[in-house]
Amino acid sequence: MLDKNILIGVTGGIAAYKVVEVASRLKKSGANVRVMMTRHATEFVSPRTFQEITGNAVSVDMFGDAANFHVAHIALADFADAILVAPATANFLAKAAHGLCDDLLTTTIVASDKPLLIAPSMNTKMFDNPATQENLRILRSRGAKILEPATGSLACGTSGKGRLPEAVDICAAVEKLFATGTLSGKKILVTAGGTVEAIDPVRYIGNRSSGRMGCEIARSAVDAGAQVTLIAGKIEVTPPPNLTFVSVESATQMREEVLKIFDTVDAVIMSAAVADFRVKNPSAQKIKKSDETLMLELVKNPDILRELGTLKKTQVLVGFAAETQNVLDYANKKLVEKNLDFIVANDVTAEGAGFGVSTNIASIIWRGGNVENFAKMSKSALATKIVERVATVIGRHG
Ligand code: C5P
Repeated sequence: MLDKNILIGVTGGIAAYKVVEVASRLKKSGANVRVMMTRHATEFVSPRTFQEITGNAVSVDMFGDAANFHVAHIALADFADAILVAPATANFLAKAAHGLCDDLLTTTIVASDKPLLIAPSMNTKMFDNPATQENLRILRSRGAKILEPATGSLACGTSGKGRLPEAVDICAAVEKLFATGTLSGKKILVTAGGTVEAIDPVRYIGNRSSGRMGCEIARSAVDAGAQVTLIAGKIEVTPPPNLTFVSVESATQMREEVLKIFDTVDAVIMSAAVADFRVKNPSAQKIKKSDETLMLELVKNPDILRELGTLKKTQVLVGFAAETQNVLDYANKKLVEKNLDFIVANDVTAEGAGFGVSTNIASIIWRGGNVENFAKMSKSALATKIVERVATVIGRHG
């Protein structure tokens, strides 16, 4: 919620006091919070309480605070990235459904085209009243999100549907207003960079991977609303923000970290260049220079992706095939052997493709043989294409 501008409208219900906690939580999560109250709401909670919690002046009257806001309802509507109305009374619902503008709150709502979340709270009979239900239907049909009231004891002494949901649930619903991407609510694991296999404490066997492609995929998945874990070997770029970053060295460590979360993710995009071999007995001390030939005995590394292919349940699996010849043939073979949904193949020797550069020339090969050939494009643009396809396959799985 960092730097999101949230405008909270508080109307005159007893549950107004609970919205103090909502404002506080949103503020703590990094949002800029402004509160506007109806006259009746100020009978339940003092504007000063919201002012102290949010650090911002609270607006009540259309013409009250002319020094700060020349045209208050327009200024407040422009400030908001989203508007929350909580608690929303039956009176507010009726006015908002019909576009009435008889106070600051309703006028601001009409002046705004931003996402609107409404949390009704009232006596059960008032909530169930056909007029209220019809007003809710109208508001929903115009795109407003309505948070269902909770059931329990009500201020009027009865029990039933009509309680304002808990502050934590209201805040989660506000956050959800911003998670509109194709991967929202999905967990994606991306691997990037090259693994490092120790020869001794100083030297290692590595490869030319820069981690650019994997980091762009991770960034694109974050932008699509996913919860992303990026497990990276050696990378030359800064990992993107807003994800869980796990740094590893060897293929063995990468395998361990991948297997720890594999069961919990919806897709794995394995773009890391994982070394196929490691040194059998890395030296504990720096190997000294000699005139003799140096023999390193190499043993096979685990093939992480192949293992995931045998373990996979509903996870979407995407592999990469960085080749120097017979690209499509080799890629197709790997697609089948590793039980992948699709594989991204590229000739790393082609100009503008492969390691270190910011562009790539790739093909996507699907199970069943369909091939998509892409022209040279930025790794960022290719990442978007890959992530779009992952979202489509996840969607098909339901
Ligand atoms: O078989 P090859 O190494 O060419 O396959 C490449 C694909 O398999 C990439 O997606 C890479 O991340 C993955 N891989 C792996 N473990 C290995 C080698 C490759 O997961 N040991």
